[in-house]
Amino acid sequence: MYLKNHLFLKVNRKMDSFDLSSYLFSKQKQVNRTIDEIIDQTTNSSVVVSAMRHSLLAEGKRIRPVLCIAASQAVGGRTEDVLMAACALEMIHAYSLIHDDLPAMDNDDLRRGKPTCHIAFNEATAILAGDALLTLAFEILSSIDLNPIKINDAVKWLRVINIIAKAAGYKGMIEGQIKDIAAEGNRIGLKDLEKMHALKTGALIEASISTGAILGNGSVEQIQQLNIYAKNIGLAFQVIDDILNVEGDPAVMGKDVGTDQVREKSTYPSILGIEKSKEFAKNLVNNALQALDYFDNKSDPLRAIAHYIIDRKK
Ligand code: IPE
Ligand code: IPE
Ligand code: MG
Ligand code: MG
Repeated sequence: MYLKNHLFLKVNRKMDSFDLSSYLFSKQKQVNRTIDEIIDQTTNSSVVVSAMRHSLLAEGKRIRPVLCIAASQAVGGRTEDVLMAACALEMIHAYSLIHDDLPAMDNDDLRRGKPTCHIAFNEATAILAGDALLTLAFEILSSIDLNPIKINDAVKWLRVINIIAKAAGYKGMIEGQIKDIAAEGNRIGLKDLEKMHALKTGALIEASISTGAILGNGSVEQIQQLNIYAKNIGLAFQVIDDILNVEGDPAVMGKDVGTDQVREKSTYPSILGIEKSKEFAKNLVNNALQALDYFDNKSDPLRAIAHYIIDRKK
């Protein structure tokens, strides 16, 4: 599915010089500020709020919200119209990390350069903070002001809520996580590995991009092309995560490395080896870039992010 060529292929479009670092910095700042305002500790000093903020406001890349914003931009949308949805996506991601790190799952102590939520607080608080972030995300997604907007906007938001719920749920990320745990200590085939990665990580990344494209009023064709982009970078993102777990620097990544091997996880490097895994990730990113040939230079951020996904060190 990921290696197919596409109907709309044109000559691979070159990016005019695009400064991804500044772009990431400014979008990350907007997302962080908004999250900080939404989960305001000064008006709520509950321990669960401290735990939510501990994990959510720690230094993450914010790649899902940035992808949501960049996808909306690619179809002519505005950041302010998708910012709340972008923050909701980051909340769902942060919840998934808190639960992923629990002793019953990957049992990790370090995340985003800080002790994991269950180490900093305790297991019960970490579970509840994760639950609270997941439900808060849907509270925010469904809190649109219905007065000044047209009914079409409400329909768009409803569609987005449905897409995100499916991606995060038992047919998406949760199924991927179940497969990941079941595959510990078992050698699975490449097809199963691809399916597992597409679900545990790809699904939410795809939903982030669809969200931006839909809220930005993308056309059916634009949304289709962005879905191809999303499928490819979603899988590439997890392949690189696997590679970084082998050869990354924990000080840069803010999480421990070598843990997949210790837990006998099924990963791309364990099945394909490092070099073939890198080649696979590069092919995926090339497919993603081809899908963007359909767009003009408003999709430069998406192009730059695709390159960043394979070059990243954290
Ligand atoms: C880590 O996600 C877990 C995966 C799904 C691969 P990120 O690499 O996006 O982590 P943060 O958000 O930057 O901490
Ligand atoms: C995390 O996958 C996927 C989700 C949280 C859904 P991993 O377990 O491979 O990611 P890291 O390496 O802990 O960040
Ligand atoms: Mg895991
Ligand atoms: Mg993990």
